[in-house]
Amino acid sequence: MFVLRHHRRAPSAAASLVQQIGQRVLIVARVARETKHDGLVFFHAREVSSFCPMDTTPAFPTLRIVSHPLVQHKLSILRARDTPTKIFKELVDEIATLIAYEATSALQLEPASVDTPLERTTGMRVSGKKMTLVPILRAGLGMVEGVARLVPSARVGHIGLYRDHDTLEPVDYYFKVPGDVGERDFFLLDPMLATGGSAAAAVSSLKRAGASRIRLLCLVAAPEGVRRLADAHPDVVVYCAALDRELNGQGYILPGLGDAGDRLFGTR
Ligand code: PRP
Ligand code: URA
Repeated sequence: MFVLRHHRRAPSAAASLVQQIGQRVLIVARVARETKHDGLVFFHAREVSSFCPMDTTPAFPTLRIVSHPLVQHKLSILRARDTPTKIFKELVDEIATLIAYEATSALQLEPASVDTPLERTTGMRVSGKKMTLVPILRAGLGMVEGVARLVPSARVGHIGLYRDHDTLEPVDYYFKVPGDVGERDFFLLDPMLATGGSAAAAVSSLKRAGASRIRLLCLVAAPEGVRRLADAHPDVVVYCAALDRELNGQGYILPGLGDAGDRLFGTR
């Protein structure tokens, strides 16, 4: 493994260097947001690194930030106060698809025989466990279609949780997942990881039901929530579009995008 240099963005010359080296290259970048933790993140610059195109940071080892330009562009529109419900819904759906694309990049493949119109050949198909999408009600519902577009055979479970306004702790009211839990990979869906209480409770419920392979797909995460989930469930990798600065006194993510459920369903 080669460490190129400290830089906000990898220099363009790095691209040819990567090709010459022909090995895995790690770009180490300094990002202001993280300096209060350890001053460094490991930035996998999409255009030059042969690592997965996601940002990771030693301060948040379970977190994967999808830094694709389209995700970041759409997220900015999603954050805007004036974005109407219709567009908000469409963007949540589209970003969910793009995050799911990255979150499924490590799925295992196996060879499979295919008869084309001309001859028999060997293609590849996803092997391993069956996939299950589990939105956390309500706001997670907005991500289901976007993810299902890529994995149409996935089953869909539901977990009903809401945050108590005073304590900010999750209150659960519904749980339904497919019966063969042990044979399944779970993709928990919720746009917001704030205090982490809802996600941690949802993962606990899934594990109580027998699930062992769980990933969380969200849009915006707060450092507090990523830490709480990692403390409770270090095995759960979190995929998100952004790691925001902090929570405010009411448990809202800053800068965030407001109340995701209200903005999705027009109940503001
Ligand atoms: C939101 C969001 C998460 C939760 C995150 O749901 O969709 O489920 O808050 O907060 P936490 O990390 O602090 O638990 P909310 O409780 O507002 O319910 P809703 O989706 O029904 O509006
Ligand atoms: N839930 C939301 O919908 N938004 C936040 O910022 C925090 C929790």
